[in-house]
Amino acid sequence: MFSKNELKLAYGLIIYFLFVGVLCYAAFPPKTPHEPIRMKFEVTAGNVIFEHKKHHDVTGYGLSCGDCHHTLAEDEYADAQSCSECHELDEGDEEVPKRADAFHQQCAGCHEAFESGPREKECTACHIR
Ligand code: HEC
Ligand code: HEC
Ligand code: HEC
Ligand code: HEC
Repeated sequence: MFSKNELKLAYGLIIYFLFVGVLCYAAFPPKTPHEPIRMKFEVTAGNVIFEHKKHHDVTGYGLSCGDCHHTLAEDEYADAQSCSECHELDEGDEEVPKRADAFHQQCAGCHEAFESGPREKECTACHIR
């Protein structure tokens, strides 16, 4: 049998470790998916600045990762890849367009659907000099 004092010590330790655990959890929250803030695509026709975080953030346009990283299920967002993993630079077809066509279709297509943001023909709204 344990003595009263031993039990007190044991409970004390349990409470202490719970407390430390909560503190650590608060100080080091679980890893959120790595997410770029802003990216620049270098194109001779004019570089494109893409506000990655703003497109996703709830204080921005509130889009879901999967709206753009279209092959990922919700629990896979942390594994988001470059579009080039699948959309090649200089080869593509109707179904799997090449990289630049994939961008033009996805970026401008969504702006068209939302009726805001640069449309397909508004080249210089994306390609700045
Ligand atoms: C509006 C479209 C859009 C949304 C929404 C979006 N992304 Fe992206 N993301 C992109 C584009 C475009 C790239 C650049 C891909 C490239 O360079 O080929 C990118 C790149 C990335 C990269 C870098 C990949 C690499 O290895 O180069 C990560 C990581 C990433 N996104 C994660 C996320 C996460 C996590 C979310 C949701 C919280 C998210 N993205 C939401 C469009 C988007
Ligand atoms: C893991 C591979 C993979 C990655 C990464 C990927 N795609 Fe795709 N994409 C595909 C495949 C396969 C298709 C054709 C089948 C389909 O529609 O899913 C496709 C089709 C498309 C299409 C044409 C069909 C449609 O949905 O209208 C667009 C546009 C597109 N991708 C844009 C992008 C962009 C932009 C990115 C990066 C943010 C990206 N993709 C990342 C594999 C990928
Ligand atoms: C799934 C939808 C969606 C996709 C995909 C998307 N956008 Fe947007 N974009 C928006 C919305 C919504 C706005 C907000 C327009 C407003 O409120 O004025 C916007 C605004 C913009 C603007 C103007 C304001 C700003 O934030 O700079 C630019 C430039 C832009 N997008 C570039 C891009 C580029 C480049 C891509 C592809 C790499 C892209 N977008 C993909 C939805 C999208
Ligand atoms: C919604 C934003 C957006 C609009 C509008 C847009 N582009 Fe682009 N463009 C991009 C992005 C993003 C890329 C891809 C950059 C990369 O691959 O890194 C690109 C790539 C390109 C490239 C280089 C790809 C290649 O084929 O070698 C050319 C050229 C180009 N765009 C011309 C145009 C022209 C011309 C227009 C108008 C008719 C236009 N773009 C409209 C965003 C846009």
